[in-house]
Amino acid sequence: MFCIDKISITQFKNYPRALFHFDQRITCITGVNGVGKTNLLDAVYYLCFTKSYFSKTDQQNISFGESGFRIEGEFVLNNEVRTAICIMRENGKKEFILDDKIYERFSHHVGKFPCIIVAPDDVYIIIGGGESRRRYIDALLCQTDANYLQQLIDYNRTLQQRNSLLRSISEGGRTDNHLLEVYDEQMIRSGIYVYETRKTLLHQLVPMIRQLYNDLAGSIEPIEIEYVSQLSQNDFKELLRQYRSRDISSLRTNAGIHKDDLEVIFHGQLFRNTASQGQRKSLLFALKLAEFELLRVHKGYPPILLLDDVFEKLDEGRMSNLLTEVCVKNRGQVLITDSHRDRITTHFDRLGASYQLVTL
Ligand SMILES: Nc1ncnc2c1ncn2[C@@H]1O[C@H](COP(=O)(O)OP(=O)(O)O)[C@@H](O)[C@H]1O
Ligand SMILES: [Mg+2]
Repeated sequence: MFCIDKISITQFKNYPRALFHFDQRITCITGVNGVGKTNLLDAVYYLCFTKSYFSKTDQQNISFGESGFRIEGEFVLNNEVRTAICIMRENGKKEFILDDKIYERFSHHVGKFPCIIVAPDDVYIIIGGGESRRRYIDALLCQTDANYLQQLIDYNRTLQQRNSLLRSISEGGRTDNHLLEVYDEQMIRSGIYVYETRKTLLHQLVPMIRQLYNDLAGSIEPIEIEYVSQLSQNDFKELLRQYRSRDISSLRTNAGIHKDDLEVIFHGQLFRNTASQGQRKSLLFALKLAEFELLRVHKGYPPILLLDDVFEKLDEGRMSNLLTEVCVKNRGQVLITDSHRDRITTHFDRLGASYQLVTL
């Protein structure tokens, strides 16, 4: 069993100070637009991932006019109470504390409190660029494999260093082949780990996504999902060598796992170009629910599910029923927002699920 049973929020976004107790497995959060429903979910997300799902920097989450924030949450994991605290200090330093122990690296916390969020803009996972799909895959792997996150951080750091070396070469510096090779070696080491781990994951995940998609879309039309990586056909070292002169002229690294993608094909066409809105939503929920299921099996208990305004997007009755059912069947904690109080309560009443209603 895993849940968050209370959270206190100070100077975080639109909350000067607030305390919430979650005393049911399902919490429905309602209130008019702009009242702080999404921000409350993001505060929970913070305590699981040590960062926001929505904003790029920690600073953006400090209440306007203030100089720091604090989020404290009480979680229950296997009957043990765990206290997580995230503090953004006035000096711009972030601290993350679990049961009175300060983390040296935030990455060590990720995965301890598994969590999945579904937010309105997530449809970009389907229709946007590869970056959003890599982020989806990474969010899952970072929670199941602590080493994965470390390798990914190492890879991205080296990629930045390599790119800035490429830029300095263009600014008249001479080509430092030795340093390039050092970076290449580091990228190969971490890149291959990331590639292999993604490949293994997708082998497991793709059949689950396809099944869920058919359930949600009520279709038997097959979708094909393929993990596309330059590394699948080529030796990474060889690739970097082949691309070197092009890298120098384009000032960036053109080969590697930062180019990976998940390609979805439907009737021989790219899904993102041809699918209807309804089909896109079905695929998005299939991705998220597959992630949920995989995390649940991996951890041995269900992750916290944060559903932000999903009913807004789910006009089709059957699909919202299916989704609500998932909340009820899976015995995990669900925090769900909706600006229409009646819509959300009707759904859960109909399913006979007990829930707590929080009105902001
Ligand atoms: N750093 C911040 N300081 C103060 N208020 C903020 C900050 N960031 C966002 N907000 C406010 O939070 C509100 C939006 O909250 P949100 O959780 O998105 O509402 P909703 O209930 O519609 O999901 C907006 O009024 C916005 O101005
Ligand atoms: Mg919102």
